[in-house]
Amino acid sequence: MKNNTPKSPSDVSKTSRRRFLQTGVAVGGVLGACTPSTLQDPARDLGEAPSTYGQRSPFEKSSRIVQASSSGGSRRSPGGTPEAGLSRTPLQDSQGILTPSSLHFERHHAGAPEIDPDRHRLLIHGLVERPLIFTMDELRQLPSVSRILFVECSGNSQSEWSNPGSTVQRSHGTASCSQWTGVELSLLLTEVGIRPEGKWIVAEGADACKMHRSLPLEKAMKDMIVAYGQNGEAVRPGQGYPLRLVIPGWEGNTHIKWLRRIKVVDQPYMGREETSKYTDLLPDGTARQFTFAMEAKSVITYPSGGHRLPAPGRYEITGLAWSGRGLIDRVEISIDEGQSWQEAELQEPRLPICFTRFRFPWEWKGQPVTLQSRCTDETGYLQPNREELIKIRGLRTFYHFNGIKVWQVQADGSVQSVPA
Ligand code: CO
Repeated sequence: MKNNTPKSPSDVSKTSRRRFLQTGVAVGGVLGACTPSTLQDPARDLGEAPSTYGQRSPFEKSSRIVQASSSGGSRRSPGGTPEAGLSRTPLQDSQGILTPSSLHFERHHAGAPEIDPDRHRLLIHGLVERPLIFTMDELRQLPSVSRILFVECSGNSQSEWSNPGSTVQRSHGTASCSQWTGVELSLLLTEVGIRPEGKWIVAEGADACKMHRSLPLEKAMKDMIVAYGQNGEAVRPGQGYPLRLVIPGWEGNTHIKWLRRIKVVDQPYMGREETSKYTDLLPDGTARQFTFAMEAKSVITYPSGGHRLPAPGRYEITGLAWSGRGLIDRVEISIDEGQSWQEAELQEPRLPICFTRFRFPWEWKGQPVTLQSRCTDETGYLQPNREELIKIRGLRTFYHFNGIKVWQVQADGSVQSVPA
């Protein structure tokens, strides 16, 4: 057990407000002059009636950037293969810790299939005593669990190895956070009865490429979830409707979508996604394989690349931190090129393997300044800078970049990405 008692949410917000006010300028100075003549009149006509399924305000434009896979480029599809593409969460507009399902990043290898849940089945077989086929109705009858967990593509932030992403959406947007609901895989595996030779599972999706990954049985028995719910409704088609595997803290590629089959085996299958892809080539020419856990990482989401501060004055630096190994214990901010670090406040609830929102009151005096964050997780691991990461991993690797991201506020208030 940890002995540092967490602050209650009201303590945190009181401290935060006090620190904000202490830094010199009254709130009125931040908000600017507001007179009755600038207020909009209330509506005179009746507004929209209640609807069956909600839409956001037409004034809200935040959206995913969609990118086709370039590796699929050919004479047949010179622009790449859109079905094997990805979309990125607009983290620059994010609030709190949850990602709306409509803005959760997507990465498909053969497009999202349309699946009728009444016809969908999950087969569990291989080195088991009693192979079983589950319908969706049967899965929903079983005891369920809900967990708020981030999902991050292991290729997230790959731009930062060489050519830093201009916005936080481009650099960090293949990470999102949802509440997932479903059945613990351990329950289903206990039901089928694992034979002693069973040491790994192969999970397979119902998409056209039959996406599959080999995964150690130990993790399957620990905390994998066969999820049918996301943020209070059914999992979205782009997220694996009607069923996806959710693996707390492990790279997004392993969270098999449109899950149709789990085979218990004695050793990994060495499929495409664990040999030619999703391995990490090191400087000595060997490659790391089965690097499942996503290491601790943080990034400032406001202000970040593409934002523009309207004038010198009071601001709140805020961002997100997460670790595939548990809780975020600390986030620190540097506004002096990394020479000194000050602790940011962590918003409650602070959950393991979940986005953690951090906040840091700050006054911008109108000078150019660099902003960066670093986090420490509950294992004591400190997020490295790019240089430290390259020392260990070299520059031939592609996945698992978790280095510090640096933003620079220019004298005109515009914010840019700068090399770390
Ligand atoms: Co990996």
